[in-house]
Amino acid sequence: MKAQALKKIFSPRHGVEAIEKIIADLNISIGVYDQDGRLMWGEDLKDTYPSPAPIKDDDKTVGLVYSNKHVEAVATLLSYLLRSEIEKKYLAQDLLEKYKEINLLYKIAENINAAVDVKETAHFIIGEAINFIKTTHASLMLLDEESHELSVVASYGLKPDISDQSLNINKIIQTVLQKGSPQVVNDVVHNEHRFSFMCAPLKTRDKTVGVINISHENKVHYTAEDLKFFTTLASQGAMVIENARLYSQLRNTFLATAEVLAGTIEKRDPYTGGHTKRVMDYALAIGKGLHLNEEEMTRLRLAAILHDIGKIGVRDRILLKQAELDQEEIKNIKAHTILGEDILKSIDHLDDILPGVRHHHERFDGMGYPDGLAGENIDIAARIIAVADAYDAMTTDRPYREALSHNRAIKEIKKGGGTQFDPAVVDVFLKIFDTAEHNVKESVVNGDCAS
Ligand SMILES: [Fe+2]
Repeated sequence: MKAQALKKIFSPRHGVEAIEKIIADLNISIGVYDQDGRLMWGEDLKDTYPSPAPIKDDDKTVGLVYSNKHVEAVATLLSYLLRSEIEKKYLAQDLLEKYKEINLLYKIAENINAAVDVKETAHFIIGEAINFIKTTHASLMLLDEESHELSVVASYGLKPDISDQSLNINKIIQTVLQKGSPQVVNDVVHNEHRFSFMCAPLKTRDKTVGVINISHENKVHYTAEDLKFFTTLASQGAMVIENARLYSQLRNTFLATAEVLAGTIEKRDPYTGGHTKRVMDYALAIGKGLHLNEEEMTRLRLAAILHDIGKIGVRDRILLKQAELDQEEIKNIKAHTILGEDILKSIDHLDDILPGVRHHHERFDGMGYPDGLAGENIDIAARIIAVADAYDAMTTDRPYREALSHNRAIKEIKKGGGTQFDPAVVDVFLKIFDTAEHNVKESVVNGDCAS
């Protein structure tokens, strides 16, 4: 009975077209097998993708789906279809609605884990609204936690002018915010033109954090089904947004803590005051010049802040010594790269900045420490920090010598391109800083070069 039902859901009479549409929409390849391992529909993918998902009737597995992606979502959908078939309650429209919901929930679940950026998440949410509801404009607005003003975080398409009082859209949005429930207005009138508008609150456990709006330039009559999907999207989306917000707060707190920590370590050495901050500013300016993406910039920022954290383990006697260091003392100082990595290893989510810290004293020609890595085997953050660190060290007074002039330091950096430093990083550094009258420190203070 179950196997027959499974077969039936792939018959043209029962909605194979709907399944094909969904598969095409998701742009995936699938193979569906019965419980005896016979291919029932789609491609033979058994040996291609090792992790199938079960098609279930209650708790019983009645078939398996193999797919290159979304395998769980497809299996859940087919389970639903199978149940509908058994219960003889199958309706194509019902299936499509269910598909939209299941697919959305899976996508949201994926995003909850991946969401780290509020803007990106907002774009994802309005993207889903556009995919499934007739829309010529969509926007996601968040309330500022301090000013309580709404601001648009992501938008799409032709935007009705929400400041135009005659549209009454502001009023609708304010009502949604106050009451915390969605509104559909199918006949917003503007200049004798009517259009449809829907607004739903983004609610977290204890508060409304914003709204999501969609509209169609014509009067399209949003249905109860549209509203249901839209409300699900808003409530699930709010969780992802909140998650991204919390992550961003956490990241900022962590960055601030890391800066304080680095500053505290610096205070041991009056000659290096502000070194970390300057190295970070130079490094970010170089990173920007190299067109690093946002994620790489964050990684670079953290690695630059924490690059010398291992100096916490170097004794004052050595760190502050005015006379020349002996071999043992040099070894001790050099160990700060490894010690820095060891300290940070124990902190979650910092894995990707470890190479920047461990390798910031490697040389492009392989003659550096601690591992003698060469060329592009050295992490890009480490290659950038090496140049920023060297420039700042040269232009700062040290116990054993006075600061070098900007021009002299630039000359040294230029000379080190291809041997001590990555020539591509040096090129960018020179492009930014090598102007006759240009003083790097001043430009950093004035914010000319900081990202
Ligand atoms: Fe260092």
